[in-house]
Amino acid sequence: MEKLIVKGGTKLEGTIPVSGCKNAVLPIAVAAAILGDGGSVLHNVPNLTDVTTLRAVLEGLGATIKRKNSTLYIEPINHLEYEAPYELVRKMRASIYVLGPLVAKLGKAKVSFPGGCAIGPRPIDLHIRGLEHLGAEVMVEKGYIYAQAESLIGTEMNLIGQHGPSVGATANVMMAATLAQGTTVIRGAAREPHISDLAHFLNAMGADIEGIGTSVLTVHGVKQLRGTEHTVISDDIEAGTFMVASAITRGDVYVKGITPQQIPAISEKLVAAGVELDWDANGVRVTTPHELQPINVTTAPFPGFPTDMQAQIMGLLCLAAGTSVITENVHTDRFIHAAELNRMGANIVPDGSKAIINGVPKLSGAPVMASDLRAGAVLVAAGMAAAGETVVSRVYHIDRGYECIEKKLNNVGANITRVNA
Ligand code: EPZ
Repeated sequence: MEKLIVKGGTKLEGTIPVSGCKNAVLPIAVAAAILGDGGSVLHNVPNLTDVTTLRAVLEGLGATIKRKNSTLYIEPINHLEYEAPYELVRKMRASIYVLGPLVAKLGKAKVSFPGGCAIGPRPIDLHIRGLEHLGAEVMVEKGYIYAQAESLIGTEMNLIGQHGPSVGATANVMMAATLAQGTTVIRGAAREPHISDLAHFLNAMGADIEGIGTSVLTVHGVKQLRGTEHTVISDDIEAGTFMVASAITRGDVYVKGITPQQIPAISEKLVAAGVELDWDANGVRVTTPHELQPINVTTAPFPGFPTDMQAQIMGLLCLAAGTSVITENVHTDRFIHAAELNRMGANIVPDGSKAIINGVPKLSGAPVMASDLRAGAVLVAAGMAAAGETVVSRVYHIDRGYECIEKKLNNVGANITRVNA
């Protein structure tokens, strides 16, 4: 089992390049492999285990996928299978993205129910609701989702759930609607940058989607989609993570390949906490000349503060000069990292959907355990700021969403070693 040994007291200085966006490339690769009648080429694809897992799922359905550096070559599927088996889908929730495209392309799908994970139950009722609105018959039996439809018929729907818009359901239903008969209007659509990138990719394939970036997506169905070439947007959450890493070590890091439009709420909260952001056309310089200030953060769908940055901002606020409050409104159980940070000397009191963070002067290295990819990232960041050595276990969580995290951080002055222990 691999671990990361993080020597503390390092100040990060230099340039960190941001890789392609994990949560964009996953649905885009699905669309390319299943919906396209021609091959597609995807550039700026990060080297992540989630991408490797999804590639296995798509190859299991009949796709031919080749990788050269950060480019994926996805050949059209000649004999598309309609079943995505448990042994593959259980590894990654995003495998559920094949459901809508398979029904749209083949008229049927059999997909294993995706597992939950450490951040709470991960229902898919909105995915099912959306496909049923399009005329699919969907049933769940023995851990599998069966969906079928002679043809999908465009309609109006509202996909808002009790926790707001659903990124996954928006992606699934939007992809299915591209090949439906007639027009589909999706109200309550997610507006995350990766949903917009997926919509731009679908339109480059010949789809006809309007309202990109808004909460109302209008999809005019077309007969077929062609292959295309696309460069995936940069990863907003990876960028935000590295910005926090610079701030928590009081470093001076240039995070390259991100725009302020991708991370409005992250930028606003970092500045409110006393971090200085100096933007230029290609990225942002992150310095923290003064004491970190306590702030309150509430996670929300885009353009709100992303839940995928909640652990990272919590780590930073552990060292603020006062008490901060974080409210997690998107996932129901996403404070597991608080206990691990407390092992490092933090003073965090989770209380339902809120966590009270009482700032402390310093953190101390300790053995800690990653519970999901963002929790793992914050433990590495806290370890770099802490006195002494931090050993982060269950590193496989981190590798799902961060490309060679220790390599990128060591290039700017961190002291992190990956060991097999
Ligand atoms: C995507 O997950 C991301 N994953 C998650 O990132 C991210 O935390 C989440 O969106 C929110 O931004 C990928 O894109 C691969 P949702 P997803 O559907 O689509 C509830 C990471 O760190 N809900 O937007 O599963 C759900 O329980 C990962 O990269 C329903 O109730 O999230 C949650 O409370 C972790 N019914 C809320 O909506 C449904 O059918 C938002 O979930 C679907 C979701």
